[in-house]
Amino acid sequence: MSDAVLPAQASPEADILSALGARSIVLVGMMGVGKSTIGRRIAARLKLPFIDADTEIEAAAGMTIPEIFERHGEPHFRDGEARVIARLLDGGPVVLATGGGAFMREETRSRIAAKAISIWLKADHDVIMRRVRRRADRPLLQTADPEGTVTRLLTEREPVYGNADLTIASRDVPHDRIVDETIETLHAYLCGQPPADLASAVR
Ligand code: S3P
Repeated sequence: MSDAVLPAQASPEADILSALGARSIVLVGMMGVGKSTIGRRIAARLKLPFIDADTEIEAAAGMTIPEIFERHGEPHFRDGEARVIARLLDGGPVVLATGGGAFMREETRSRIAAKAISIWLKADHDVIMRRVRRRADRPLLQTADPEGTVTRLLTEREPVYGNADLTIASRDVPHDRIVDETIETLHAYLCGQPPADLASAVR
């Protein structure tokens, strides 16, 4: 028998994984767009660990995010957030969901650009409002006019989220459809061709 190594089974997921190397996949975008839900599923498809930055920040602080905002204020939260994301990016490859404000910090954007592929999960105002109404644990939305706050944050943030490497439209369709689109988009971006199964389908 020869010692020749058999080629790994070709699949879009395997192609993405080998093109990534030590880089991570980082999901950015507003609250309620589905970064954690979609991120967890992308991680499962790629067989990578999934990490939620907000959960890591809470573990590091020994407090919930509302408690951090209340006791120490937003600037303190943002400093901790930047530190935690920097640490997580050093441990790649992982799929990392970031809190909606994380990508607004220039230092964090540069780190993500150096160590990851960023994906903006983009949703419109109505989809975001429908989803954020389900939870009351987002300090920035504890205002008299959450709709107005979301409008203002979208105006400030969308041009910055637009610096992500890739954009995927998050909308009310089954999660797996968004995950399939993300895998296809990642494959085209990293490997410069459609996924193997699509290519054979059109041959
Ligand atoms: C924030 C979003 C939250 C959390 C914090 C601040 C923001 O994360 O980090 O409440 O500035 O948009 P999600 O985007 O996961 O809700």
